[in-house]
Amino acid sequence: MSRKKIIAGNWKMNLTPSEAKEFVTNLKSKINTDKCDVVLCVPAIDIPVVLDTVKGTNIEVGAQNMHFEENGAFTGEISARMLTDMGVKYVIIGHSERREYFGETDQTVNKKVLKALNNHIIPIICIGETLQQREEGITVDLVRLQTKIALKGVSREQAKNIVIAYEPIWAIGTGKTATSQQAEEVCKAIREVLGEIYNVDIASKIRIQYGGSVNASNASELFSMPNIDGGLVGGASLKPEFEQVINF
Ligand code: PGA
Repeated sequence: MSRKKIIAGNWKMNLTPSEAKEFVTNLKSKINTDKCDVVLCVPAIDIPVVLDTVKGTNIEVGAQNMHFEENGAFTGEISARMLTDMGVKYVIIGHSERREYFGETDQTVNKKVLKALNNHIIPIICIGETLQQREEGITVDLVRLQTKIALKGVSREQAKNIVIAYEPIWAIGTGKTATSQQAEEVCKAIREVLGEIYNVDIASKIRIQYGGSVNASNASELFSMPNIDGGLVGGASLKPEFEQVINF
């Protein structure tokens, strides 16, 4: 059972198109994409320039969100077909910031996951607990539920391609990383629930990332855990240290 690691940068609302071009031009000359898949999840307006800049490399481009409807009167939104048409291969779905500030729920996450898969886009599905939920001891119950709802109606064949990002909310942008043991424990529980939903073989193929203050000094320890297949990296993906995270 060998899963190729996948490291995704989540730029959030940072870098203009010209800044993006400069950053990616520099990054691509310094990283080795043999041992892991690299995905840059960039603001929608940066997608064309980043796609152009990564041409000829193995770096893939992802979006940070999309709408679950096919098309229509949804001012400001972007559809799955628009992303596919551009050449986008991944989309982050249900990031905790989208859940907190933009009203996303487990149900809208599920609709988006289905829409992405039906358009051949790999969803990076974000789940994770708040500090209060961790202290109440319900982390595993919560991520099990989030996983089950997110994957309702996703077939076995489709499930093999998804990526799950376990991101404890208390570790995002705070500099407080989960210990590799804490992260492994939850990623293992997520793999177990995937085994219950599908089967052990399919669960062993699905990649589970850890996200939350991943940086150059903790990446290799986190990524060496048996159930952690890479990372979703926010702050550090905008800095030169992203090279070290990728070359972990
Ligand atoms: P961080 O963000 O690496 O800055 O903690 C991770 C994320 O939000 O995906």
